[in-house]
Amino acid sequence: MPATLEVMIAAEEIQRRVREMGREIDADYPEGPIYLLSILKGSFMFLADLARAIERHSVRIEFMGISSYGRDKTSSGQVRVTKDLDVSLEGHHVLIVEDIVDSGVTLTYLTRVLEQRKPASLRIATLLDKPERRISPVQITYTGFQIPDRFVVGYGLDYAEDYRNLPSICVLTGE
Ligand code: PRP
Repeated sequence: MPATLEVMIAAEEIQRRVREMGREIDADYPEGPIYLLSILKGSFMFLADLARAIERHSVRIEFMGISSYGRDKTSSGQVRVTKDLDVSLEGHHVLIVEDIVDSGVTLTYLTRVLEQRKPASLRIATLLDKPERRISPVQITYTGFQIPDRFVVGYGLDYAEDYRNLPSICVLTGE
């Protein structure tokens, strides 16, 4: 069966929501820099837009690599750090930026690791949340969209490394 893509969240809708999230973050945080901690690779596009939507704080950009899926569509449940930070987070306001929270396994692991580094605060911003899939509870402060349990690609999200460049979130079927 050939792969088909169906738009679930159009690019304009994403842009609108991300601008709102930026305003919310600006309103919530005290003065001083916010460390946006982007989890590679899927969050790169959301990070770029969210960073520009935060207009009233200085922002620092950091990247971490965490892998939990391999090349399959479903989680292997195995989490590993593929790229760690080379700066200290101690005393800083850290906002984890994710493209999607699915089982919650990745973020449960990551928040445990990061809490040990003594940030002043640690919160999560995710573009997408699939609450039906949760097996490990995570507290998310900023959610772009809650979505049903469909396999989605685009706006940073991939299937076997393809489709990350699509400007919309699309449902992928037939792969
Ligand atoms: C995705 C996503 C999250 C994780 C969420 O990353 O970016 O990090 O899965 O899944 P979970 O809630 O079930 O743990 P993925 O491992 O696909 O890597 P990628 O971002 O490099 O594509």
